[in-house]
Amino acid sequence: MSKENILITGGAGFIGSELIRQLIKDQSKHVVNLDKLTYAGNLENLKSVEDKSNYTFAKGDICNNELLIELFEKYEITKVIHLAAESHVDRSISDPLLFVKTNLLGTASLLNAAKNYWDGNYENKLFYHISTDEVYGSLKMGKELFTESTSYDPRSPYSASKAGSDHLVRAFYHTYNFPVVISNCSNNYGPYQFPEKLIPLCINNIIKRKPLPIYGEGENIRDWLFVVDHAKAILTVLNKGQLGETYNIGGLNEWSNLDLVRVICKIMDEKLKRPVGDAEKSITFVKDRAGHDLRYAIDASKIKNELGWSPKYQFEEGISLTIDWYLNNQTWLSNVSSGDYQSYYKKQYG
Ligand code: NAD
Ligand code: DAU
Repeated sequence: MSKENILITGGAGFIGSELIRQLIKDQSKHVVNLDKLTYAGNLENLKSVEDKSNYTFAKGDICNNELLIELFEKYEITKVIHLAAESHVDRSISDPLLFVKTNLLGTASLLNAAKNYWDGNYENKLFYHISTDEVYGSLKMGKELFTESTSYDPRSPYSASKAGSDHLVRAFYHTYNFPVVISNCSNNYGPYQFPEKLIPLCINNIIKRKPLPIYGEGENIRDWLFVVDHAKAILTVLNKGQLGETYNIGGLNEWSNLDLVRVICKIMDEKLKRPVGDAEKSITFVKDRAGHDLRYAIDASKIKNELGWSPKYQFEEGISLTIDWYLNNQTWLSNVSSGDYQSYYKKQYG
């Protein structure tokens, strides 16, 4: 049986590594993981797959056109799942150009390399772009949801760079008939998430009895989805998505930041056998994020009705599994907090 060669970009990150752990079980697929190994990329996340015969790692930058051509040719790539990005909103506020370079120019380079390599022969080819709900902007408090036809209104350098990359992907579809599909997902949580993001940051700080920083008054709302469910949604779109279409992915699971952190505090007090109310005492209200979007919430009825995907994990189960994972993997946490994880692979890949 000939294998399908799939290029995954950003596979050493949080969502990409979960996707690879799931995808690699399918022996008919050969996964080539292209990752620059920025601070967010960590090969420890892929220890369980690194020796699999249908897995190949390539260290490199999606902006490197020569490397892209080499990889497409060497591995005869037929599908791309593009996750590589700078992903943290706060970092985009302090370094916007890096986000434009990676998220916008990097996506343009990858699109162009795939288009040149496939050279008009688009049968069984696919460029799948992984995007975010943040491209739609910010919702008011209430019941309104982002749908696939909500107008784009990005408001941070991160979301603007992702919106720009979505536009480029659609432009390739309309201009060249290039085979694309896009999904826009809400906030993910789960194992292996870098502890700069709210949930792992709080888990880490509770373990270490450090302050839990809540921006502003903590009233901002996010729609949280377990990363295992997101990866399953990506595989569903990969297998059944229609060319040129966009699919919104979300958890129907809205939480204000303050309520979410309080729940994490309560569960962790129980798991760590600390007095009731102990962790909550560390909640600290800090200066708000500049341009902080008030509310995100996804209408995921299209992917449910057309492709048959819906989340399997209830929030209570997903957050409990996530907290257990961090409690059981404190070496991973201290390695990423100290930077030690980078020396692990620098010996191998430079
Ligand atoms: P992450 O920050 O954990 O991982 C990003 C990965 O991309 C890292 O492994 C990093 O080394 C790699 N990378 C960065 N720049 C690169 C470059 N120039 N060339 C090659 N590799 C590079 O991100 P994540 O949270 O796993 O998000 C993955 C994708 O999903 C992103 O495109 C993000 O916009 C999107 N997304 C994330 C969420 C979320 O809640 N985390 C939600 C919706 C969509
Ligand atoms: O909506 C999808 C997006 O979710 C993804 O596209 C992004 O890649 C991902 O980082 C995430 O963006 P957010 O900005 O929503 O995630 P973050 O974990 O940084 O913050 C979640 C909420 O918590 C947000 O309202 C800001 C707030 N926050 C965050 C941090 C880091 C705090 O109150 N304190 C903090 O220390």
